[in-house]
Amino acid sequence: MKFRAKKHANDRSVLNAAGDAIVIGLFEDEGRGMSKTGQMADRLTGGQLSRHAAIDGFSGAPGNVLCVREPAGLRTRRLIAVGLGKAAAYDRDAWLRAAQSAAKALGPAARSVTWALPAIAAWGDDVSGYALATILALRSVAYATTAYRSPPVPPPVVAATLEVAVAVRAPHEEAMTQALAYASAVADGVDVARELGNAPGNVCTPAWLGEAAASLAAPGGLDVEVLGPAQLRELKMHALLAVGQGSDAPPCLIVMRHVGGLPDEAPVVLIGKGVTFDAGGISLKPGAAMDEMKFDMCGAAAVIGTMKAVAALGLRMNVVGIVAACENLPDGRAFKPGDVITGMSGTTIEVLNTDAEGRLILSDALTYAQRLKPAALVDVATLTGAAVVALGHHYSALFANDEPLAAALLASGARSGDAAWRLPLGAPYQEALRSGIADMNNLGGAGAGAITAACFLERFVEGHAWAHLDIAGTAWRSGPEKGATGRPVALLVDFLARRARA
Ligand code: BES
Ligand code: MN
Ligand code: ZN
Repeated sequence: MKFRAKKHANDRSVLNAAGDAIVIGLFEDEGRGMSKTGQMADRLTGGQLSRHAAIDGFSGAPGNVLCVREPAGLRTRRLIAVGLGKAAAYDRDAWLRAAQSAAKALGPAARSVTWALPAIAAWGDDVSGYALATILALRSVAYATTAYRSPPVPPPVVAATLEVAVAVRAPHEEAMTQALAYASAVADGVDVARELGNAPGNVCTPAWLGEAAASLAAPGGLDVEVLGPAQLRELKMHALLAVGQGSDAPPCLIVMRHVGGLPDEAPVVLIGKGVTFDAGGISLKPGAAMDEMKFDMCGAAAVIGTMKAVAALGLRMNVVGIVAACENLPDGRAFKPGDVITGMSGTTIEVLNTDAEGRLILSDALTYAQRLKPAALVDVATLTGAAVVALGHHYSALFANDEPLAAALLASGARSGDAAWRLPLGAPYQEALRSGIADMNNLGGAGAGAITAACFLERFVEGHAWAHLDIAGTAWRSGPEKGATGRPVALLVDFLARRARA
């Protein structure tokens, strides 16, 4: 899919575009459902637009789509109008709904499109929000996991061949061109995260994830290292080893480096939870929807996708991506409730539930990461069902021990349409991690499960700015559209791009 900025002085110029389709938006409450663009289109088509709207009962409500084929007086083959809802309520959600219905309406036959949905007020004069939202919406409609069909289905043609000219006012053309390039790199990273996330557990093992990271990274100039069980033992990463010991697929630690800053510049370190399948271990999960635990490596997938985008953008900063990868299965050799394990930091942990494995493997990854003297640490994990209970599927849960870092991540989430909501840490919650036999337990007791999990992680951070994103509710969708979302790649790339030197 190719995107370019196309400058237009006015609506008439937009509507005069040739090609397979022009996409415009119509408000519900403006002059019989007609925005200014709509009124112009209606005039140019000799009333065809309003007549078709009446026939189809198109009201301009969010999600409404109207398609006029071979519109009179225009050069385009189709005029696609989508409902934007009430003008006063025109926000990011309304825009997204309109954009997705428009993208679906384009269908596989469209090869060239002029895209002219009005921007929302929140984007103001900054065209980057518009560019990112447009590219992510169109690419997410075009995305499909096709590798696991028989015979293998080629990816949707539309993704490869569609050319989108994004209508933009003349003074913003250059800014839009840059914003589209940035957004394409983000969308590529999102697709990487979705594709890795969707890979089934019998394909996506820790070693496979390491190879995938290496092969994705090589063309972008990232340096990738995969530490196997022998090296993990040398490093005393016994928390990661314990979680992985019930599986025949050995655990590993994947380290990806982007050196875009000075060699001695402190890196930002991203850490991803890469549990390639989480059966719960001896504390076995119930059967319902257990298949979705193949998505328990979506934090890892997001880190790998983000590293890919960071390299593609050539960000002038140092970034290290670390993935702790393992599989959590019950077995004769599996770790057990009651076991006390000592990870890389030396802290002893009483395992009260083997299904609280994410925090164990992340504790070793956090300890390892701090050897790199990071400027900031951000871990990303499908860590707790409690995060889904707290925030549902809209916001990722954010925790942080550092105010500026928290503020930057929240702002990046809001800007990129990949939002996070902050939840607290603190001493009262730490109480739940007290153990009668070891330094701490891994369960956290009843209530506030997302918070006590974050408090567990915080204990392994010493003197570094750290944030934790619990993406259990946002990393994948269940139901008929089951699949990985690629979140929070857009948030992370925005965060990094704004920290990088110009
Ligand atoms: N991977 C799960 C978290 C999860 C569960 C994400 C369901 C999305 C949907 C994690 O390893 C886990 O099992 N967490 C437990 C922790 C509990 C045992 C303290 C949970 O959330 O139930
Ligand atoms: Mn678990
Ligand atoms: Zn898990």
